Amino acid sequence: MRGKFVTFEGCEGSGKSTQLKLLSEYLTSVGADFIMTREPGGSAISEDIRKIILSGKNTAMCDECEALLYAAARIQHLREVIAPALDAGKLVVCDRYVYSSLAYQGFARGLGEKFIEEINAVALRDYPPDMTVFLDISPKDAFKRKHGADKNDRIEQMGMDFHEKVYAGYKSLLEKHPDICAVYCGGTKFETAETIRKLLRDKNIIS
Ligand code: TYD
Repeated sequence: MRGKFVTFEGCEGSGKSTQLKLLSEYLTSVGADFIMTREPGGSAISEDIRKIILSGKNTAMCDECEALLYAAARIQHLREVIAPALDAGKLVVCDRYVYSSLAYQGFARGLGEKFIEEINAVALRDYPPDMTVFLDISPKDAFKRKHGADKNDRIEQMGMDFHEKVYAGYKSLLEKHPDICAVYCGGTKFETAETIRKLLRDKNIIS
């Protein structure tokens, strides 16, 4: 039987990395058969594409190129890592997936949902996530907590207007896609981790 596929989404500084680390520790402690991976990246070729996308040097990159590179990194990662793990019955937890492209490139860059859905057709059709956890905190509150943006990351360096658009994009995705579950993450990291574990139990992803 195919394993479950769970993806995590959120704006910059939403605490995704911290939560994924805590979840990984928990899953290891209960002996779960899982892999944890991330986008863009997760395989050697996709990590190379990640460097091109995020490099601070690549300010000339057009929006369509950016969206296509995310989609290219994704399909390689899917074929090489995610699909084999799911087919082997493992739980796959992935840091970002197609909803990131819809929020960042489709919504905030203005490329539209249709274009993003088309270039991610295989991922959406053959490997949709069983559920997505959206860590819900506004970019303003997130950057306050994080003390500013990473200077070496081209996407983080975009202004607050861009990040507000990404947040609005996620909010509109939440209304349309019931498989996305919002988790308020303004409390302590341990409170958020407990809420996430409860959600995963309620959805029969973990026991
Ligand atoms: P990363 O350092 O992994 O950021 P985070 O910890 O916030 O996930 O960088 C990934 C960046 O790429 C992040 O700014 C979100 C962006 N992104 C997109 O714009 N579209 C996508 O499809 C994906 C997967 C990520």
